[in-house]
Amino acid sequence: MSSAFPLLRSASPVPEAERAAVLAAPGFGRHFTDHMASALWTPQAGWHNRQVTAVRPFSLHPASSVLHYAQEVFEGLKAYRHADGSIWLFRPERNAQRFIRSAGRMGLPPLPEDDFLASIEALVRADEAWVPVATTQESLYLRPFMFASEPFLGVRPAEQVTYAVIASPAQSYFASARGGVTLWVSTAYTRAGQGGTGAAKCGGNYGAGVAAQVEAERHGCDQVLYLDGLDEEAFVEEAGTMNLFLVTSRGELVTPALGTILDGVTRDTVLALATEFDLTPVERPVPFRELCVGIADGTVTEVFAAGTAAVITPVLGIKSTRRTLTVADGEPGKQTQALRDRVLGIQYGRSEDTHGWLRHVR
Ligand code: COI
Repeated sequence: MSSAFPLLRSASPVPEAERAAVLAAPGFGRHFTDHMASALWTPQAGWHNRQVTAVRPFSLHPASSVLHYAQEVFEGLKAYRHADGSIWLFRPERNAQRFIRSAGRMGLPPLPEDDFLASIEALVRADEAWVPVATTQESLYLRPFMFASEPFLGVRPAEQVTYAVIASPAQSYFASARGGVTLWVSTAYTRAGQGGTGAAKCGGNYGAGVAAQVEAERHGCDQVLYLDGLDEEAFVEEAGTMNLFLVTSRGELVTPALGTILDGVTRDTVLALATEFDLTPVERPVPFRELCVGIADGTVTEVFAAGTAAVITPVLGIKSTRRTLTVADGEPGKQTQALRDRVLGIQYGRSEDTHGWLRHVR
């Protein structure tokens, strides 16, 4: 079965001047390119109708399962333009593999890795003019997703599933002028439980996070810090849309172990790069109390969050109903900056890709 996604070029692409204006200040997730990739799945035909077309609205029956039971999974990855004009993806195979795992958790069919990669590459090639020239960290953010499009109100695996990829030129996810974020420790909401959907990249996890995000903003914070329970005896999970890391005075780079959290591509990248910075990577349960004591006594020297959209974002402070903590001197940490520079350096072709993580597209 061929994984080719043939291109039916848009008859009305965005005019060049308009595209240039968007690329000059893209923001995050607000503007979309001319094309989208898509495919359909049914039990009889498997994956079929692979194509890249003009970006267009879906026509969905009101009974489509996704609208009722949220059978949806997605991914996030970026295409980077290097100084010589070439375009690259960063570890897209890991996104493809996680997409398969997420789909399995939501009763959706696996999209073969070849299809995932072919759809993304076909879309990036069709919309290559939309890949920004990077001045700081501009890129083309790619959003593959899959949902149950069968009109059926019973709860069971859907017999019609739609896959699509859209693309959006993007700058940094956080517009914060302070060079980092503050986190609100939610004691009203958790993100996941044992056996739940925490490790899946499904829309429902993020939809359920909106109330917690509103709570965080109400308390003057940028993002939520989720614990695995509703009191301060609980363990640290994730920071909103990102994985969390601590640097300790003993030279460890500590992050919560996998299980109920997202197996982040940037998380894995940072762990793999740790030893270059004389840091020992440690994945283990992290009690919230240990984080608080460590920040207060200085044994936690830096905290940062990592994710595709947010790259590596320094955490400057943590606030809860009972405490307000400033991490070190409230400025982005040195190791955080160094890891961030190294990750961005590889992604933009400025630093040697010693792990072979880049995939050439154009
Ligand atoms: C990403 O980092 O790509 C994400 O999926 C976060 C997103 C919800 C903005």
